[in-house]
Amino acid sequence: MTLTAKRFFSPPGSRLDRGFQAGRAKEADRSMEADLALECEYFSNLKMRNGTFKLTRPSRFAMLEAVFGPILRERVKGPCTVLDIGASTGLTTVELADFLRAQGAAPHVIGTDLFIEAHLVDLAPGIHVLSDPDGWPLQYGVAGVGIRAWVRRLDYVTLAVLPRLLARSLLRPRLRRQIAAGASQSVRMESRALSGRPIRLVENDIFVPEPAFEARFDFIRAANILNLGYFKPDRLRVAIANIRAYCRGPGALLLVVKTGGAQHDGTLFELGEAGSFRVLARVGKGSEIEALVVGDAGAAERRGAS
Ligand SMILES: C[S@@+](CC[C@H](N)C(=O)[O-])C[C@H]1O[C@@H](n2cnc3c(N)ncnc32)[C@H](O)[C@@H]1O
Repeated sequence: MTLTAKRFFSPPGSRLDRGFQAGRAKEADRSMEADLALECEYFSNLKMRNGTFKLTRPSRFAMLEAVFGPILRERVKGPCTVLDIGASTGLTTVELADFLRAQGAAPHVIGTDLFIEAHLVDLAPGIHVLSDPDGWPLQYGVAGVGIRAWVRRLDYVTLAVLPRLLARSLLRPRLRRQIAAGASQSVRMESRALSGRPIRLVENDIFVPEPAFEARFDFIRAANILNLGYFKPDRLRVAIANIRAYCRGPGALLLVVKTGGAQHDGTLFELGEAGSFRVLARVGKGSEIEALVVGDAGAAERRGAS
């Protein structure tokens, strides 16, 4: 039975927090692992307003670490700044920080995601909604059962599409109103693995330039976010231009990867002196947006203008 948002975001002492309490290290470790898996399962079923999922998994990048480890060990050293774009709950951001630290780096890590803040809104006794700040339902909770708010293909066959679309369009104005009036409980869709860690998880849209990030990062990861299945090439070019601006300068690294089950297709890029990315290494078939990253027209234009 799917966990409701109310149960999931319940206060310390609930099942999900056991593993994070001090004492009995081994037992706590096992419990923490189970809790993180449960946490991922919960968040992975949430579909955001722009069609992306919060899907993530613990240790999903272990194989990438093995492949790119030697290059990163060589290139991302000492104090450095790292940006994890589309970090979801930040769980794999924590893992990235741990991995880099184990390679000898002292990383200052920021994770970003477009959707971190959410609200629990009570509608009637026994009925609540997990909503994004714009009133977009992410999950319904009815009589202790969590119900998915998004529509999948099968819903068109079973006609479950109708009540789902109807519920969303009828509820959205009401959810917005309640949130605006402060009649909701704010929650953050972030991993409990972040607690006590010096890692910031901040809301940011990769399609909107962020001046505070300019020329700041030595290593940027964009995992399972810049996918052709999510965004059109023109949009992706905008994201790539922003990422390039966020790189500290020549020599900065960018990892773009798409994961399907146990298979990773990704490319590690390096920013060159001329302001364009070049391929350093690949895993699987390489990133599906490699051509967009390397053939970035914006860089060529700027080079021409200077
Ligand atoms: C499939 S998850 C990937 C999570 C993690 N990087 C991983 O690979 O396990 C994609 C994430 O990108 C976020 N996202 C979607 N659109 C975004 C945008 N425009 N800017 C930043 N993050 C975005 C979603 O909220 C979601 O958490």
